[in-house]
Amino acid sequence: MSEYADGTMLSVIEEGVGLITFNQPQKRNAMSIGMWDGLARILDAFEHDDRVRAVVLTGAGNRAFIAGADISQFEEQRGNADAQRDYDRLTRAGNARLAAFAKPTIARIRGYCLGEGLGIAMQCDLRIAAVDSEYGLPGARLGMAYGFDLVRNLVSLVGPAHTRMLLYSGQRIDSAEAQRIGLVNQVVEDEELSERVVDIVRTIADNAPLSLRSMKLAVGEAVKDESRCDYAAIDAAIDACFDSEDYREGRTAFLEKRPPRFRGR
Ligand code: COA
Repeated sequence: MSEYADGTMLSVIEEGVGLITFNQPQKRNAMSIGMWDGLARILDAFEHDDRVRAVVLTGAGNRAFIAGADISQFEEQRGNADAQRDYDRLTRAGNARLAAFAKPTIARIRGYCLGEGLGIAMQCDLRIAAVDSEYGLPGARLGMAYGFDLVRNLVSLVGPAHTRMLLYSGQRIDSAEAQRIGLVNQVVEDEELSERVVDIVRTIADNAPLSLRSMKLAVGEAVKDESRCDYAAIDAAIDACFDSEDYREGRTAFLEKRPPRFRGR
């Protein structure tokens, strides 16, 4: 287990899965600036570690995934527009790192998933949630505004109508509504969440890493404006699959009626 930002961010690798824990339960895991930096550093380490095939992000305890940004830092760090721009520079590293992270990411969500915490969950590839989870973007109640990346991610997941309702009202929605509008992939009973996430992440982690990389890249490009799509990168990632040892292993394993052993090359 590794600790970052005075233990408010934790990471561990187990059987091909990197686990990242937002660990400030006494503040419902609200994100401090130090936690953003810790998140970027953990993702850097996971990106370069071939043992990590997929990553799960979760909050410590049962009460929250992340209850938004740490409001106790707002006066000092985000007191006005100039300070907010500096704050943005500091937090953008973690957000950009998550957006560009090449391996599959899953948010395991219990309790409150609010503000920038929902932003982090939306940057993940999948959101698997417990019945007790709640979602909201309370910025309008605080007189603040969210960055364009968060808004764009929300629109691409739930469409403009649900985005407007969430942003303008600042109200929270429950897990059933979150699933209905497409904000989360699956909702399971609270006590079944860990097991369900292990099932999904194990299934993903056993698949061919280069295939996953290529598919993650393609989906990310597909939700961008077409003029900004990197078709050359998509083609290169597909070529890398067809030229890989894993492609041969996948075919051979199928014909030999055994599970494949993929190595990411
Ligand atoms: N930043 C800093 N501290 C936070 C926090 C946040 N975003 N969210 C919760 N906390 C702290 C509370 O101040 C409280 O601290 P205290 O014990 O020292 O008083 C502690 O976490 C527990 O919160 P509490 O409100 O007592 O718990 P709850 O279970 O009744 O309610 C929430 C939980 C998340 C609904 C409520 O705390 C809340 O609305 N938080 C703010 C959410 C928000 O607006 N986030 C910013 C979005 S940009």
